[in-house]
Amino acid sequence: HNQIANEAAWEVIREQGKAIDAVEAGVKIPEADPNDQSVGYGGRPDRDGNVTLDACIMDETGNAGSVCFLKNIKHTISVARKVMDETPHVLLAGQGAWEFALSNGFQTENLLTEKSKAEWKKWLEEAEYKPKINIELHDTIGMLALDDSQNRAGACTTSGLAYKLAGRVGDSPIIGAGLFVDNEVGAATSTGMGEAGLKSVGSFLV
Ligand code: GLY
Repeated sequence: HNQIANEAAWEVIREQGKAIDAVEAGVKIPEADPNDQSVGYGGRPDRDGNVTLDACIMDETGNAGSVCFLKNIKHTISVARKVMDETPHVLLAGQGAWEFALSNGFQTENLLTEKSKAEWKKWLEEAEYKPKINIELHDTIGMLALDDSQNRAGACTTSGLAYKLAGRVGDSPIIGAGLFVDNEVGAATSTGMGEAGLKSVGSFLV
């Protein structure tokens, strides 16, 4: 899936666009892809069957926006971008993030596909309602770009670990954990088991 995401981002860079626009365009591809079960629409739900999404975005100036525990909005990264561009805040969570998205014209929709629902129901039969860390080899998308003006930006978006506890938030919406951009030094982002990235503030550390 993510080669197509790279192509979408590259289209922006090739037209002398900005890195921040490239990474947003890139990660929107898996967010809309029902076959990518780690991101956006089609993402695996928590153990109660709710798809809850996390995302963040950061530009070359150190400006950042993020959302966590957001339900029913496919393009989480664009909500994070709105938080960055149009509010004095960095992170909006849950109901507040959803209301903010609606007030900015985003559509609310069911993100749980039949495939992810069927797999979750099978998990319920066998797992005794106990989350196990990263049983699905989780594959968040994190994307970094460098544009013609030598500006860097990054974006990270995920449905989080499959069958997590309700309310669990991983590294992906946390600046420094799931993503960090320093235009003089470089940029880093992460995928996989977010608990590790949170404990090490991994992207900042890199
Ligand atoms: N790396 C994504 C997550 O753990 O939620």
